[in-house]
Amino acid sequence: MPYARITGTGGFLPQRIVSNDDLAADLATRGVETSDAWIVERTGIRQRHIAEPGTKTSDLATRAARAALESAGVTAEAIDLIIVATSTPDFIFPSTACLVQANLGVGGAAAFDVQAVCSGFVYALATADAFIRAGRAHHALVIGAEVFSGILDWNDRRTCVLFGDGAGAVVLSASDEPGILAVRLNADGTQHHILCAAGNVVGGQVTGDPFLRMDGQAVFKLAVNSLTRSAREVCADAGIPVSSIDWMVPHQANIRILNFISRKLALPEEKLIVTLDRHANTSAASVPLALDVAWRDGRIRPGQTVLLQGVGGGFTWGSILVKI
Ligand code: UT7
Repeated sequence: MPYARITGTGGFLPQRIVSNDDLAADLATRGVETSDAWIVERTGIRQRHIAEPGTKTSDLATRAARAALESAGVTAEAIDLIIVATSTPDFIFPSTACLVQANLGVGGAAAFDVQAVCSGFVYALATADAFIRAGRAHHALVIGAEVFSGILDWNDRRTCVLFGDGAGAVVLSASDEPGILAVRLNADGTQHHILCAAGNVVGGQVTGDPFLRMDGQAVFKLAVNSLTRSAREVCADAGIPVSSIDWMVPHQANIRILNFISRKLALPEEKLIVTLDRHANTSAASVPLALDVAWRDGRIRPGQTVLLQGVGGGFTWGSILVKI
């Protein structure tokens, strides 16, 4: 049975950067009060990239995919599986993955989306790993992409300051050498209400609430506990101690969540890849974007062990242990 290895990464962020001060000034015109000091102290976020109106998730995903293909030295024609993780697809259908495939100018291979909100990339990577290990794909494009700005209620300061837009991607290729060492995916659907966008389209009309809503404190506690447990489980599955992890690439939601987890795992904070200060929370894009940053700046190197972790709506969470 072949293994699956990450052979390249890519990322793409919209050009427009909105600092906390910019956002606070904009929200003030709506009578919504916030400040750079509050956002930095409670989250660690300093800025986010926001897509221009009309930008589609498939546009961002395609840019990230092209960068990942180039990084891996793999052509679009060689890709036999495309999975896009997103909660902000271009359309109800077809899938964003099919639109990316069309943008890349290729056809024929399998393409579909997965929906696990901020855990989406980890779920998608686990799915691609299973395809490759089963011999059903050789080169997979796995993408996390979001235009979250489109589902934010800009009158709700408890959520709108937290998120940004972007896309990240990896090429996962069949290999004789181990790459993905262990996978843990979990969900607790009884907690679906603590993070949701509970709208629907019926008879051509949006019914329910199309905006993201979150019980921040409930999400915070579940995120810390589930990711700490999941990290221990995935390391036990791989038969390695947590202390042997070289880098942890967690979902970029809140620096306080990341610091809690690293403390509970006794993993030095220097081993955390943190991009939330610049990218904010880009949901399914956050893990591959952070991975791409550390891959390109040379921190993540061949032979190292990297823990990828996602957590989010559903409630979903997951960990993947990777040998680079
Ligand atoms: O990707 C999905 C995963 N999502 C997450 O992981 C998010 C997890 N949760 C969190 O990160 C945190 O719970 C938040 C950052 C969302 C909120 O931080 P918190 O420390 O839990 O704050 P809080 O909700 O308890 O609010 C504290 C105060 C409240 O005022 P009062 O009631 O104490 O007067 C809020 O109204 O802060 C107020 N507040 C704000 N003030 C200024 C809430 N949002 C803002 C804001 N600016 N943007």
